Amino acid sequence: MALPTMQTSRLRLCPLAERNRDDLIDLDSDPQVMKYVHNGRPLTQEEAIQDHQERLSASRQVPGLGYWAGYLDGAFIGWGALAPIQSGGETFHAQKAELGYRISPRFWRQGYAKEMARELLRYGFEELGLMEILGQTMAVNEASRATMKACGMRHVRTFYVDFEDPIPGTEEGEVEYIITREEWVRFHLVSK
Ligand SMILES: CC(C)(COP(=O)(O)OP(=O)(O)OC[C@H]1O[C@@H](n2cnc3c(N)ncnc32)[C@H](O)[C@@H]1OP(=O)(O)O)[C@@H](O)C(=O)NCCC(=O)NCCS
Repeated sequence: MALPTMQTSRLRLCPLAERNRDDLIDLDSDPQVMKYVHNGRPLTQEEAIQDHQERLSASRQVPGLGYWAGYLDGAFIGWGALAPIQSGGETFHAQKAELGYRISPRFWRQGYAKEMARELLRYGFEELGLMEILGQTMAVNEASRATMKACGMRHVRTFYVDFEDPIPGTEEGEVEYIITREEWVRFHLVSK
């Protein structure tokens, strides 16, 4: 199943493609964007290319799941994902996916991550028939937490990971947010 192109009120979400390589190099080389992801530092060009390739492969693992490039009037603003979740070995959960997003700072605080994420939740529940969507971020990543909350997701746990090279804020832990299909149906009705 090829990933669909989706349209929100302001954004066009197109399946992430080879042609987005330079967009992702720009995004991932920005220290503000990378502050709470990976090792907390901008990626080199080689690392960004490798990550881009990994995202393209992830988009081929489970039908319907993957990464989308967001465009505003033809300009790339960032990406959103409903990524497959491994259930052990090479297999993936059939009815769960992980929400993710990364937006270029000049587009921050204008509601684009929320708009993109809500469309991905709608697609995941309505079109793919998922039962649950989760998201994880560092506890100190207020923007990411607020985005999940603004999509009706709820905080279910805080957990701690031993990183080899921890970045500031790691001591506060990582947080997980979840929304089930039933919760989304209720949220979607009241937020219309
Ligand atoms: C997280 C991120 C995608 C949010 O993008 P955005 O387009 O600025 O978010 P939105 O404008 O859609 O805002 C969504 C919600 O978060 C809130 N928010 C956004 N940035 C915030 C911040 N820095 N602090 C607190 N709340 C914030 C908004 O007020 C909004 O909540 P509301 O609807 O209740 O008012 C963006 O900051 C980003 O790309 N960060 C770097 C990458 C990253 O950390 N990704 C997540 C990794 S898990």
